Amino acid sequence: MMHLRLSVAYALALLTGTLAVPSQHLDTRQTPWKSTPITDFAEPWAFAFLPDNRVLVTERRGNLRIVDPTTKVKGTITGVPAVAYAGQGGLHDIALHPKYAENSIVYISYAETGSGGAGGAVARAKLTLTDSGGALSGLEVIWRHSQRASGGLQFACRLLFGPDGALWISSGEINQMTPAQSMTTNLGKMIKLYDNGTAFAGNPFASQGAIQSQIWSLGHRNPLGIDWDAQGRLWEVEMGPMGGDELNLIQSGANYGWPLVCEGKHYNGTAIPKHSTRPTFAAPKANWVPVISPAGLIIYKGDLFASWKGNAIITGLSSQSIVRVTITGDVGKEAQRVSMGKRMRGVREDKDGAIWVIEDGTGGRLLKLTPN
Ligand SMILES: *[C@@H]1O[C@H](CO)[C@@H](O)[C@H](O)[C@H]1NC(C)=O
Ligand SMILES: *[C@@H]1O[C@H](CO)[C@@H](O)[C@H](O)[C@H]1NC(C)=O
Repeated sequence: MMHLRLSVAYALALLTGTLAVPSQHLDTRQTPWKSTPITDFAEPWAFAFLPDNRVLVTERRGNLRIVDPTTKVKGTITGVPAVAYAGQGGLHDIALHPKYAENSIVYISYAETGSGGAGGAVARAKLTLTDSGGALSGLEVIWRHSQRASGGLQFACRLLFGPDGALWISSGEINQMTPAQSMTTNLGKMIKLYDNGTAFAGNPFASQGAIQSQIWSLGHRNPLGIDWDAQGRLWEVEMGPMGGDELNLIQSGANYGWPLVCEGKHYNGTAIPKHSTRPTFAAPKANWVPVISPAGLIIYKGDLFASWKGNAIITGLSSQSIVRVTITGDVGKEAQRVSMGKRMRGVREDKDGAIWVIEDGTGGRLLKLTPN
């Protein structure tokens, strides 16, 4: 039963595969953007813009691709370590070091197997580019989940650099639930590190031990999207179980309550106490019942979609949509949901304010969205 969301999503994918409406027949009058497809990938998970305007794209099976959006020519980056491609796991996120222009260092997150099953890992490596592709070298694992599990679910491990140069990792609880509340594991936590993997000085539990010193916040389930707003506040989206997807404002030392409180239910229908019953836990600033399955998040900062400045733009898997949420003070409110007809995996904003999204699954396309 814990695979319900996967099964529903799979059934939906089959259904839409069978009954797909050709995109030219979709009513686009209400689509708030022009969508330019770049090219397609094999189960893409994440992407990152390079200074030369090419885009790095991770494919879950363990391939790192590069595409030139102008020519649409795709290449391959070699040197990716073996990944645990099973369940939801594989090659996940990619991020450039804040000083990438000087050091060519990139970070990847992925699922790996070892004793106890599979867990998430984060590595950094030097990226050498050629005209047609490139290579990673000097790969160094800088962080790992402190325990592993079978099942291959909820690794998350989105990567984001902060204004102070810190590396943030959104660590999933690999479907183990209670470790999200345990300070002796790094599952179900927001992690703040230096770029070399050492715990960031000043983290809220720094005095309590090696694992604890990595932790910024706890009580997270499957946190797949993180981004900064213009005020320097960190926002996060995470998947709940049956209901209870959350948009959270991430604060130092806060406990977000999973699995003790949640607006949704367990997959077997068992109720979970609501956030209102335990006010010591940080409640979501917006939540979804039924779920949207948030897999990516940006807080929009550009000028192209001027009226969306400060809004959360969330890509949804089971909802096959892009959800726009206004944030007033710290209250989030869904303002718009655009059906995309495909499970939507990730989102990024480019330096010009265009919104790029990537579809999930076989043949998932990278799309550039600009105003109509
Ligand atoms: C990692 O980086 C931090 C901050 O620059 C530094 O203080 C620390 O010594 C480094 N750790 C290692 C193991 O190099
Ligand atoms: C339902 O699922 C939850 C979470 O896995 C579990 O703790 C609970 O015991 C289950 N309840 C029943 C009745 O199976």
